[in-house]
Amino acid sequence: MNERALSGRTILVTGAAKRLGRAIALAAAENGADVAFTYRESAREARAVVGELAQYGVDALAVRCDVIDEISVREMVKDVAAELGGIDVLVNNAANYETVEFEKITVAQWDAIFASNTRGPFLVSREALPYLRKRKGRIVNMGSLGGLRPWATHAHYCSSKAAVHMLTKVMAEALAPEIAVNAVAPGMIDLGEKSAASFMKKMAKQTPMQRNGSAADIAAAVMFFAAAPQFITGQVLAVDGGLGL
Ligand SMILES: NC(=O)c1ccc[n+]([C@@H]2O[C@H](COP(=O)([O-])OP(=O)(O)OC[C@H]3O[C@@H](n4cnc5c(N)ncnc54)[C@H](OP(=O)(O)O)[C@@H]3O)[C@@H](O)[C@H]2O)c1
Repeated sequence: MNERALSGRTILVTGAAKRLGRAIALAAAENGADVAFTYRESAREARAVVGELAQYGVDALAVRCDVIDEISVREMVKDVAAELGGIDVLVNNAANYETVEFEKITVAQWDAIFASNTRGPFLVSREALPYLRKRKGRIVNMGSLGGLRPWATHAHYCSSKAAVHMLTKVMAEALAPEIAVNAVAPGMIDLGEKSAASFMKKMAKQTPMQRNGSAADIAAAVMFFAAAPQFITGQVLAVDGGLGL
């Protein structure tokens, strides 16, 4: 018998061709879930991830989607539900990050960050609702330590993620009792980028746990909410080694 935590469930992860999304998708497959994920630009990487997912013996599907576009989101969700038979868990992971001094943020930059980071999770959740309701499902939003603590050169990003944390709580109330909604708020996550190496070293020293986070740390937190009791809802879990304390 297959006793993996997500056996028989279907998970949809947005923006999972690379980085944290990919790690979340692979962790879900390792836990026995069939996995659908979206990509926008990263078609080649998405094909590779489909191959990696299939190695876990689960169904795997990649669908192109722009999460800021209502029609694109609607079609993607329909395709996923038709191909995999339903949706049990939605992970709103796709987002953008940008460093800009406060007085230099343009209206276009502000709106673009809010469109992908805040409207995106709202739209994908709204379109996935009928399927999630049927399965008594779960939504996990990717927030950020930047949505809990101010970062001076990221006003638009931080505000968009603070909005995601509030969206999480509003949805938890609005979608109960059928659907549990929680958020994971990563702190400093080291994904091995050479250009960030010295900054990462500095941040690790400032972190109570004396290291930066890994993709595995974040995937584990998402897996927790994906398989947690429905009674756990409306929570924002910082995964930051204590950096935000
Ligand atoms: N990395 C960190 O240290 C960190 C820290 C705090 C919070 N987070 C949050 O954790 C999540 C994952 O982080 P990450 O660094 O792995 O993310 P990322 O690499 O910045 O973005 C993930 C994916 O989002 C997709 N995306 C962006 N805009 C999109 C749109 N309009 N429509 C559809 N897809 C879109 C991109 O897909 P394509 O490549 O296919 O275009 C991208 O690969 C994000 O929500 C992020 O804000 C990350």
